[in-house]
Amino acid sequence: MKNYIDLNDIEDLPALIAEAIQLKKNNDQAQLGKGKTLGMLFFNASLRTRLSTEKAAKLLGMEVMVMNAGTDGWALEFEDGAVMNSDKAEHIKEAAAVLSQYCDIIAVRAFPGLKDKNKDEAEQVINSFKKYASVPVVNLESATGHPLQALTDAITVMELKKTEKPKVVLTWALHPRALPQSVPNSFADVMKRLDVDFVITNPEGYDLDKRITGDTPVVHDQKEALKDADFVYVKNWSSYDNYGQILNSDETWMFDLEKLKVTNNASVMHCLPVRRNVVIADEVLDSENSKVIHQANNRTFAAQAVLKNLLKS
Ligand code: CP
Repeated sequence: MKNYIDLNDIEDLPALIAEAIQLKKNNDQAQLGKGKTLGMLFFNASLRTRLSTEKAAKLLGMEVMVMNAGTDGWALEFEDGAVMNSDKAEHIKEAAAVLSQYCDIIAVRAFPGLKDKNKDEAEQVINSFKKYASVPVVNLESATGHPLQALTDAITVMELKKTEKPKVVLTWALHPRALPQSVPNSFADVMKRLDVDFVITNPEGYDLDKRITGDTPVVHDQKEALKDADFVYVKNWSSYDNYGQILNSDETWMFDLEKLKVTNNASVMHCLPVRRNVVIADEVLDSENSKVIHQANNRTFAAQAVLKNLLKS
């Protein structure tokens, strides 16, 4: 593995999942990262990604440097040939080159603006780091994808599945803020690569990018989609077609006990943070069916498996 920008960087997904599950059972990798440094830049807030990736790096023996780049760093210019006479103080060319001297791996979180689809899809921030850094780059959630979360989710499904080919349903839920499509994009992408019966359910107007969902069935009747599900992944996202917009305020899409009863006693997943009683009801989050804490724990081992592969190569 040279970088971890998206799921295409994984050479063998089943092997990487198995490696992460093995690390969870027996974590004795503290030598591999000795003398190496992970630098993490956050242009947006984080709890799980920041702390689980730091923990993963430390379990490998690495040093870790973290910077809230969105508030503490110089405002970065990403345009080639820019005349830098306004608020942008430093060009990505220098910033990435300098960081590459301090760090053996650079990890970056940069959310989309959700205003300009083409701009967000160009993934300027993460791709610029990849272009100008001379060390591997890890995506800690970019404009269109969250591949560390997706690997975590794949690990969780593989660990908890009770049947050979479980039914996995990704369901939309209402949220008061316009959220990126990055988590559902990467979840859809990773589920397509596994031997699962995968279905997406969302209201009209919220279909994800067809280039990512491909042949995955998209059902607009939530209860129909949830029938006999073994796993339910609940997540909000803003409209892709009406880019970045919230199109309705349909609270009936919240995942509650009534919806759970339609499923095959499903394991309920969410990437977190979750808005209780808006996205998922208390009665579900506080039930045995909720696997969100188990899932969040797997963030560490997903990150560790990725960092380990980057260090080895
Ligand atoms: N799921 C996830 O990425 O959590 P954070 O935003 O807290 O990092």
